[in-house]
Amino acid sequence: MYVQRDVYNPLLFEIAWEVANKVGGIYTVIKTKAPVTVQEYGDRYCLIGPLSYQTAPMEVESLEPPNELIRDTLETMKAHGVKYLFGRWLVEGAPYVLLFDTNACLDKLDEWKGDLWSTAGIPSPTGDQETNEAILFGYLVTWFLGDLAPKYSHENQGPDSTPSPAIIAHFHEWLAGVSIPLLKKRRVDITTIFTTHATLLGRYLCAGSVDFYNNLRNFDVDAEAGKRGIYHRYCIERAAAHCADVFTTVSHITAYESEHLLKRKPDGVLPNGLNVVKFQAVHEFQNKHAMNKDKINDFVRGHFYGHYNFDLENTVYFFTAGRYEYRNKGVDMFVESLARLNGRLKAAQSKTTVVAFLIMPGSTHSFNVEALKGQAVTKQLRSTVDEIQDRIGRRIYEKALRGEEIEAKDYLSEEDKVLLKRRVFALKRHTLPPIVTHNMVDDGTDPVMNQLRRLHLFNHADDRVKVIFHPEFLNANNPLLGLDYEEFVRGCHLGVFPSYYEPWGYTPAECTVMGVPSITTNLSGFGCFMDENIENCEDYGIYIVDRRLKSVEESIDQLSEQMFRFCQKTRRQRINQRNRTERLSDLLDWKRMGLEYIKARQLALRRAYPDSFVDDEDEEELNQIPMKIPMPLSAPASPRLRQLMNGYFNNNGNDGNDEDDEDDHRIPLPRKAFPALHHNGVTSTQKD
Ligand code: UDP
Ligand code: G6P
Ligand code: GLC
Repeated sequence: MYVQRDVYNPLLFEIAWEVANKVGGIYTVIKTKAPVTVQEYGDRYCLIGPLSYQTAPMEVESLEPPNELIRDTLETMKAHGVKYLFGRWLVEGAPYVLLFDTNACLDKLDEWKGDLWSTAGIPSPTGDQETNEAILFGYLVTWFLGDLAPKYSHENQGPDSTPSPAIIAHFHEWLAGVSIPLLKKRRVDITTIFTTHATLLGRYLCAGSVDFYNNLRNFDVDAEAGKRGIYHRYCIERAAAHCADVFTTVSHITAYESEHLLKRKPDGVLPNGLNVVKFQAVHEFQNKHAMNKDKINDFVRGHFYGHYNFDLENTVYFFTAGRYEYRNKGVDMFVESLARLNGRLKAAQSKTTVVAFLIMPGSTHSFNVEALKGQAVTKQLRSTVDEIQDRIGRRIYEKALRGEEIEAKDYLSEEDKVLLKRRVFALKRHTLPPIVTHNMVDDGTDPVMNQLRRLHLFNHADDRVKVIFHPEFLNANNPLLGLDYEEFVRGCHLGVFPSYYEPWGYTPAECTVMGVPSITTNLSGFGCFMDENIENCEDYGIYIVDRRLKSVEESIDQLSEQMFRFCQKTRRQRINQRNRTERLSDLLDWKRMGLEYIKARQLALRRAYPDSFVDDEDEEELNQIPMKIPMPLSAPASPRLRQLMNGYFNNNGNDGNDEDDEDDHRIPLPRKAFPALHHNGVTSTQKD
């Protein structure tokens, strides 16, 4: 019996491994998008993720599922030993969230692995913990949705009954993808979307020494996945991409890559947005910059004690941050360019000092003593000076009260002079300020450390570029840099992200909405998006390194040139540039970007339930369908913004599975095609 669906008030489940579980950018996607999705779906929206008992109490407020059918389904699962947490995610928008404890079902792992092999032909070798968790999670989600969906269709079978709501399940990334082929195979009555935020093969191939972009069309994908021991993961990813009703990714560049590596051309691109918070006062973000820069200044004074011979008024803070993917995140190129910048600034006898931070979590034992000592001795000096200042104040006050003459030589007592001398003596140091803040587990083989050593970036007194590698993410309780990541970014002058592999790249996007200029590349989704939509990126504080058409040498030169130009800006020019950068934030707001998600869900509903729509528009006309816009759009930030209103999500009504559709322009290839790309591999200016 055919069950009519209410496609106008569907339920939406969004499933990802990073729901209430911070790992990288996918967490940022889901969390920052929550407000617009809740605005559209209200209580019909629920996120599904894995349950971590360590972080869940901070992330989720637990409650009984208010929806009876969901409650029944979960009760039944619980009776079979499933453990879960249902509640509200403590983020803006407060969406419902359902977290499954994968460990509670470990006893079912072998059975489910066998089933995955027999139903989907996906192998799963022992010993791959991440894949095991993906399988457990996938089966739990399938169990839940597979039990829930029929409850909705059984409810409304009478001829005059109102149709029950359609169900959309939107999955992110291969780790959440196991469910998709299973739901398809079991013919569960829901419609599915799969969004990939990278391809496994892409990430692995780029991290090695492969000329990726020139060879995208030619890789023997099975063999390459096999060589890297990820064939089984690749199978999950590919099955998810092929079995989903709608397949999407986050940028055109990753769409192109998916087409060749996953062998399905995505139906559309869903670029990532941010939840842009506007301050009442337009210049509040500039004040925040100044306040947070002061905090970084304090840290720098401590870190460079004994070698503090530069002027903080003439110092600019550069940084890179992200997961420690040395080549993919372009850290190799950043460090190399810093060495060249150092040479150029010295040669130009520049008065500007650059302090470059590298914030990337690596394996460490703890903070190192030198780094901690620097903060301790400067704090002691600060409090001694404060005490002396207080004593001097009291002396002056007493004398003034008595009408006595106040002479400068009486201010500083002999005891205070001795105290001060002792503190100044403690500031003497025979070693250079450390280039790393922690004791690394593998200092001798760490790629960043080795490159800094090879390039002699040791924080010498005459170096105009100083470096600080902080191999841990930031947080406000950190004894060295007591700032959370957002505060730190606000206090810096320039973010540098010269990625080689970056499907989107939130870090420069986050800089933009905070009014901090950044450097990105034309191999990152974000860089291409900005390049396509802004006339003169550099004026707006978005510098784009060409890593497509230039040789590695040329790209490094371009990057160090961009940083050099930035160093020559006056304070006034930096302030103006920050104002322009911040103006771009509307472009990245989920209130706009979320429209592409709306289109993807519409397409999923039309593909699964074409007869449930009251109109007879076909898919070609989808782009003209008036969408429910959550909020009025803001004024365009750049002249080309209006073009963007036409949308990023392209679809031509194709069923999404054709591989031989040459005239299919759903995914326009990146504006600049990928001819003569140069092999990725950074060379060094200074040999050891
Ligand atoms: N990030 C963070 N703390 C840090 C550095 C980075 O929370 O000290 C966050 C950053 O805000 C961003 C995410 O990590 O949202 C990285 O996302 P991106 O898309 O740049 O890269 P991914 O890790 O997903 O490849
Ligand atoms: C903001 C503040 C100004 C401050 C400036 C420093 O714009 O509002 O008061 O002078 O930051 O800018 P700089 O680029 O030198 O850190
Ligand atoms: C992935 C990509 C990153 C992207 C993020 C969110 O982790 O590496 O480039 O920004 O997902 O889509």
